[in-house]
Amino acid sequence: MANKLAVLVTLLALSLGPAASQGQGSNICFNGWLRLPSSGTCPRGSRPDFRTRQRVPAPTGEGLSFGYYNNNNSYCPQAERIVKDAVKKAVDQNPGIGAGLIRLFFHDCFVRGCDGSVLLTATASGNSDTEREGPPNKDSLRGFEVIDAAKAAIEAACPGIVSCADIVAFAARDASSVLSNGRVNVPTPAGRLDGRESFANETDQLPGPFSNLTALEDSFWAKGLSPDEMVTLSGAHTIGHAKCQFFSSRFADMDPTLAAKLKAQCNGNDGTFVDQDDVTPNVLDSQYYKNVIDKKVLFDSDAALTNSTDTVTQVTDNANSAGAWERKFEKAMESMGKIGVKVRGSSGAEIRKVCSRVNN
Ligand code: HEM
Ligand SMILES: *[C@@H]1O[C@H](CO)[C@@H](O)[C@H](O)[C@H]1NC(C)=O
Ligand SMILES: *[C@@H]1O[C@H](CO)[C@@H](O)[C@H](O)[C@H]1NC(C)=O
Ligand SMILES: *[C@@H]1O[C@H](CO)[C@@H](O)[C@H](O)[C@H]1NC(C)=O
Ligand SMILES: *[C@@H]1O[C@H](CO)[C@@H](O)[C@H](O)[C@H]1NC(C)=O
Repeated sequence: MANKLAVLVTLLALSLGPAASQGQGSNICFNGWLRLPSSGTCPRGSRPDFRTRQRVPAPTGEGLSFGYYNNNNSYCPQAERIVKDAVKKAVDQNPGIGAGLIRLFFHDCFVRGCDGSVLLTATASGNSDTEREGPPNKDSLRGFEVIDAAKAAIEAACPGIVSCADIVAFAARDASSVLSNGRVNVPTPAGRLDGRESFANETDQLPGPFSNLTALEDSFWAKGLSPDEMVTLSGAHTIGHAKCQFFSSRFADMDPTLAAKLKAQCNGNDGTFVDQDDVTPNVLDSQYYKNVIDKKVLFDSDAALTNSTDTVTQVTDNANSAGAWERKFEKAMESMGKIGVKVRGSSGAEIRKVCSRVNN
């Protein structure tokens, strides 16, 4: 069903382009991933916005610990080094992969918790319409081959010990370190187990580029993360790339010089990718917040951070006081890594042999 939805999203995005951007009102579907003119109807399979206004307590990460793979019940002392080497090698060749790995962690954690469900192509129930096929992920997530390479090397060294969910968390930590030139060091306890299910239609728990501030805050609260953490984590949009379809409706709201440049780069093709941060595209730094203030960000969801006094205060602090954002980002990433974790004793969890498939 969500396969069809993904196709619809693409078709709609391609066929609507300019008409959608000129429309006065608009209709937002799939929690902010699809923008239609006000006359449009959300595709079938796209649940009505926005259901989850529920505030969930902050994740505790009970069962996770530092140096988890150095102890005798889960002994693989090489694991973190192997991931780090794989990430460093990949990011040295292409910094964009580092951005992909950080995003992979976010998309894993927000859907069914940090359980590697984002990596699956086939599940215990036989579902193949997995998270990877969902609108936020399809033709967009990258870095899977780095996870697979690290997993293969780890299985060779210590079979059956290290989960894919932990590898995703380590990889995001290591990519953050490399892309920040060592300035961002995310504390990363481990002990996550891998889930056995994954559904494309659940990826609407991720807020989208057309989400307004309320929807962003609600989506984070639904995972136990605060509006401050939402603002902090959005700073990851200081690296990596994005498709024109997600911002071509809002050139008029951007800094005119940047808008002209992006318009030329997109050249009417909504599938083209552009850098998210025009100033320091490959450095994980606080430049994003300056861009928010200067109207040099791509998405409505980025610009929405100027829409309340609380978020504006955060944005201004992050933009102006050196090191403040980096420390907050380290903490917020650590919290994100605790969302919905499955640990020893959880049911329906395992340590996968291959990250894209459940065991047996
Ligand atoms: C606050 C709500 C968020 C929204 C609405 C959002 C939306 C998006 C969108 C639409 C893209 C472009 C995807 C494409 O065009 O293929 C993107 C890219 C990206 N996002 Fe987010 N995102 C959010 C939060 C986050 C968070 C919390 C993180 C990580 C901590 C993150 C990290 C990234 C990265 C690194 C990229 C670039 C990926 C690449 O180059 O492969 N985002 N995001
Ligand atoms: C692991 O077990 C060995 C011997 O059984 C012991 O010497 C060592 O201290 C243990 N290490 C940890 C981290 O528990
Ligand atoms: C999501 O998809 C799965 C499998 O395709 C289906 O069983 C489930 O009912 C769907 N959930 C919703 C809320 O549509
Ligand atoms: C924010 O978005 C949600 C979901 O699309 C919508 O229901 C709500 O009316 C919007 N709020 C504002 C202030 O525009
Ligand atoms: C900011 O809020 C106003 C009113 O609540 C709304 O009309 C506008 O679209 C919002 N802008 C963004 C970028 O969310």
